[in-house]
Amino acid sequence: MEVIIRSDADAASLLVARMVAKEIRANPSIVLGLATGQTMERVYALLVQMHKKEKLDFSLCRTFNLDEYVGLGTKDSGSYRFYMKHHLFDHVNIDPRNTHLPDGKSADLDKECERYEKVIERNGGIDLQLLGIGKAGHIGFNEPLSALRSRTRVKALSPTTLNQNAAMFGGSDKVPQRAITMGVGTILECRKCILLATGDSKANIIAKAVEGPITSMISATALQLHRKCTVVVDEEAASKLQATDYYRWIFDNEPEWQDYRT
Ligand code: F6R
Repeated sequence: MEVIIRSDADAASLLVARMVAKEIRANPSIVLGLATGQTMERVYALLVQMHKKEKLDFSLCRTFNLDEYVGLGTKDSGSYRFYMKHHLFDHVNIDPRNTHLPDGKSADLDKECERYEKVIERNGGIDLQLLGIGKAGHIGFNEPLSALRSRTRVKALSPTTLNQNAAMFGGSDKVPQRAITMGVGTILECRKCILLATGDSKANIIAKAVEGPITSMISATALQLHRKCTVVVDEEAASKLQATDYYRWIFDNEPEWQDYRT
């Protein structure tokens, strides 16, 4: 795991968008894993800008989202399909047939979860997974006690997550109680992942996820087992981390990050 600290949310989002753009340019038929949530909105806006101004080409990209609410259809404004169309898909040249999310309206949710895993596999697995982090440490909707080897399945959302997402639905009692989510095990199989967290409300959980012990109570700690995970944070989200001097030294000195220092 590597940690990159940027001055503020805009700079952190720009770095993530540049990392994604570089991967797309290196491999135009890349399989991207996508996250939703407020943190990702800036990243998608920047990718749209790069598509429009720098001809970043999504025509061959394939995408798989981490999760979708149970019971919400594609036209429902609270659904993650709707979010993705609104923030990214409708503004870039991606082929809608190459964009995948679990079907939250499926009559057989267990079968839908199995199907989703198989489609990911048929596409060769996820090359680059984008991740946000919930206030209780979920990645996707892997709530506390999600098995570290879990696969795509239906999860009941924790009270922390219901509260976190309340604004989008006009109250925590209106947030769907369940979601289909890729499992922690599914996520760990991606070739590379980038977790983005910004703002002081994420400082405690980032410190636990990055520097704390691995525990299924905080699914993001499982990323410590991943072979290529980059955590990008702004100063606020980094404020409870211990080894910040070391993280900054790596970013300022290691050749891997040279292109991103300017
Ligand atoms: C959503 C998802 C979640 C969010 C997380 C952070 O697809 O995977 O894990 O990334 O809840 O959400 P925000 O960015 O709204 O704080």
